[in-house]
Amino acid sequence: MKKITDPQRREAFELLKKHLGDRKKKTPHEILEIGIGDGANLEYYPGNSSLTALDMTESFEPYLKENLKNYPEIRYRRKVIAMAENMVGVEDSSVDVVVCTYTMCSVTSIPSVLKEVKRVLKSGGKFLFLEHVSYPKSNWNYLLQVAVAPLWSTYYGGCKVKQRTGEEIRKTGFSNVDMETTYDEKLLLFSRPQILGVATKKTTRREDRRIVRQALVDPTGTRSTIRADVGVAIVPQTISRHLAEANFKSKRLFRALPLTPEHRQLRLQWCQARSMWNVTDWQKVVFSDESWFVLGIYDTVYGCGGALHVWDQLKRQMPSCHSVHDLELAVQVLWAHLPQDNIRCLINSMPDREAACIAAGDGPTRY
Ligand SMILES: C[S@@+](CC[C@H](N)C(=O)[O-])C[C@H]1O[C@@H](n2cnc3c(N)ncnc32)[C@H](O)[C@@H]1O
Repeated sequence: MKKITDPQRREAFELLKKHLGDRKKKTPHEILEIGIGDGANLEYYPGNSSLTALDMTESFEPYLKENLKNYPEIRYRRKVIAMAENMVGVEDSSVDVVVCTYTMCSVTSIPSVLKEVKRVLKSGGKFLFLEHVSYPKSNWNYLLQVAVAPLWSTYYGGCKVKQRTGEEIRKTGFSNVDMETTYDEKLLLFSRPQILGVATKKTTRREDRRIVRQALVDPTGTRSTIRADVGVAIVPQTISRHLAEANFKSKRLFRALPLTPEHRQLRLQWCQARSMWNVTDWQKVVFSDESWFVLGIYDTVYGCGGALHVWDQLKRQMPSCHSVHDLELAVQVLWAHLPQDNIRCLINSMPDREAACIAAGDGPTRY
């Protein structure tokens, strides 16, 4: 059934999926939804979800079960009847994601709920929230909220119209809170300010140490392999932060020589000096002496646009390298074994390559 809050729900779950990132597809997401009601969020769940539903009342159970039939891909584990402030029956560090939508407005203590959320989340786990909240105190509509609050609460079964859920979440000590406030005019004036976001539970000191140790043990590992080895759901930013704190350099692989503006300027000058050369000139000077291609000497490396594209000629057989030095060595080896046919192609294309360099000024070229 369509709901007026569908756009907000969709956006919130899109954000969650972004935060779950490159988590292994085969590993199920253990989701705990608190205050699940009849399951209005089920259609937005990420693939491979395993659900534990929590609510303080059993009265929505038949509707939830009926709704679940529309989503056979969601593995329904169990229903827990408990207050979100005291989730007895949900183990510590047992879920990857806690979902909470339009529920914090009815709870008696937001800090207690958030404490429980942190308790049941695994390290690096995500707390997805979507709630209507108070207007800022400086806004006239805040006074309206204050005025209407008692009536609102009576009419909507204890719903508090001016909760400051966003501030409470920020105070709770999540490692990262990605939150936005929206004011959708289609919603009732009093419940129009809404917060949606994803908060991440901090990793433990022990896990932080494991991240750094893993990088030492396997310097060629990627963020995904580190995450798999450490065994918890950590966002890439957390790994990058720990590696940076431990003074590890970027592990980006090199597949092309990084050219500085100075290199590009030199390449341009070099090409301009040879702009009148034809294929015969190139045969004589660059290739006929069968000299080694010496990287590191500007006149040869950056002037010779054709040679820089050895890997084009070799159908991109160039391996990914961890340093410019490794890349230079790899280019030399490939160059030494470049078949004559490829060399001929390079020579024939040199006037075009050179013209392209001049046309591009000191900017990047197609070659
Ligand atoms: C307004 S409904 C929202 C239902 C659903 N989350 C949604 O987005 O449509 C609030 C739900 O939270 C439950 N609830 C309210 N206070 C709760 C509490 N302290 N602990 C657990 N569930 C609670 C209610 O029973 C109800 O199912």
